[in-house]
Amino acid sequence: MSKNNMPWYMNAVFYEVHIRAYCDSNNDGIGDILGLISKLDYIKNLGVDCIWILPIYPSPLKDDGYDIADYYNVHPDYGTLEDFKRLIQEAHNRGLRVIADLVLNHTSDQHHWFQTSRSEPNSKFRDYYVWSDTDDKYADARIIFLDTEVSNWTYDEKAGLFFWHRFYSSQPDLNYDNPAVVEEMQRVMKFWLEMGIDGFRADAVPYLIEREGTNCENLPETHQILKGFRTYLDENYEDKILLAEANQWPMDVLAYFGDGDEFHMGFHFPVMPRIYMALRKGDASPIHWIMSQTPDIPDNTQWCTFLRNHDELTLEMVTEEERQWMWAEYAPDPRMRLNLGIRRRLAPLLDNDPRKIMLANALLYSLPGAPIVYYGDEIGMGDNIWLYDRNGVRTPMQWNDRLNAGFSEAKPETLYAPVIDNEEFSYKVINVEAQEHDPHSLLNKMRHLIDVRKLHPIFALGAYEFLAKEHTKCLCILRTHSDEQVLCLFNLTNSVQQLSLDLAAFADRDIVSLIDGNSLGKIKLAETELELEPYEFQWLSLKC
Ligand code: GLC
Ligand code: CA
Repeated sequence: MSKNNMPWYMNAVFYEVHIRAYCDSNNDGIGDILGLISKLDYIKNLGVDCIWILPIYPSPLKDDGYDIADYYNVHPDYGTLEDFKRLIQEAHNRGLRVIADLVLNHTSDQHHWFQTSRSEPNSKFRDYYVWSDTDDKYADARIIFLDTEVSNWTYDEKAGLFFWHRFYSSQPDLNYDNPAVVEEMQRVMKFWLEMGIDGFRADAVPYLIEREGTNCENLPETHQILKGFRTYLDENYEDKILLAEANQWPMDVLAYFGDGDEFHMGFHFPVMPRIYMALRKGDASPIHWIMSQTPDIPDNTQWCTFLRNHDELTLEMVTEEERQWMWAEYAPDPRMRLNLGIRRRLAPLLDNDPRKIMLANALLYSLPGAPIVYYGDEIGMGDNIWLYDRNGVRTPMQWNDRLNAGFSEAKPETLYAPVIDNEEFSYKVINVEAQEHDPHSLLNKMRHLIDVRKLHPIFALGAYEFLAKEHTKCLCILRTHSDEQVLCLFNLTNSVQQLSLDLAAFADRDIVSLIDGNSLGKIKLAETELELEPYEFQWLSLKC
């Protein structure tokens, strides 16, 4: 693929926003769509291309909106459909795209489909969900919300039957063996696409279909249904994307790309914990290993990579031993642990050390894939592990050092969640306004990193190889696209590292830093010696 004909998502940087947490326009203590609109210039200035917004639909909010009660409206806390239309227009006016969650697997138990399903056995809605006389079917399916659920079946008094759910018991799974359900979801897609949305982050896609004797994940029938959604998209729209949330091994995610005819993008889950491992161990091996387990994907598809998101830092894709190690290192307080993961944000995880935070981001941006920035991480926001479930990483965005961090003018006790106000992470210290004017702030460093990454589509399109693999204290990645090369170097340790690289194949070329434009001299036939400061990274172009 060439730089000129690549689809937009290949070289995109995404920004994940929780509207509830971003900006409150009417001072009721809850962030809303108009609030987000008022911050679009900030998002544009960050240099990102596409905003991914978490669910905004009417919902009892038992799972912060992932429990949808009506697919065709906006939760009154957030605004109206008109506001949403305006959001899309205002974003598009600024050259920003917007994708939203498409929650396919389940609805809220408050959805009228479920209400009718449970109470009217003869209605067409009975078959919209997965009902059973017993709770022993599909016994090989794991429980995902381990800290709250004891079974994937819950007995419903009204129906006198058990219903199937992979997440909270307030989120009954839809029955994708029923073609009517597939049609319903296609209508939902159409509704939001007609509104101008640029695509969907499809939630929890591995679990659509259940079959006895399997773990009920990634089944061929599930892929058939997802391919159908893609066909529908391709036949009716242009330039829209489907992004798969499949928390699976890369070999299993491969199937979600199909032959380039299923998802445009898929999250790469397991590389994420290994970046944290590599940094804490001062050892590049976990990254070498996971990338050796990462297959090539079709040309028109792209991985989506991230350091943190709105959920716990998931440790599903590591061994038991690695999980215990990650918990010991990164979640020393038991309260920091949640399900099979860690409920903390990027900056606290990385000791609020700007060198580590920038290194982790640059490392992520140097690997194949389009990166996502989680709102607040660009300024190094802290978390509140004492809030319920995953709410501690969904606290109000910190805009300035005034009332409620500039998020809202409501009374502090009426905010949907308290702002972070503890010591080094207090909004009085960490906020957009303070960082805006400081050229060395995390925010401005992040902006620069994003700019540089986007200016060089080699990061999106290029092949990669690891160099100097035996020098495990550093990670060295060589990206190549046609006759262009970028060398990405990371010192994973707290001590100075000398690197000796064989770059004879590029003899006579200039080594130029993409970060500051400085030249490091010409490459010789002999080994090239480079020195990296503690936690330093370099992006070096090998110029012809
Ligand atoms: C996804 C979401 C998570 C949600 C779950 C159930 O994993 O990221 O926040 O709880 O799906 O919808
Ligand atoms: Ca509000």
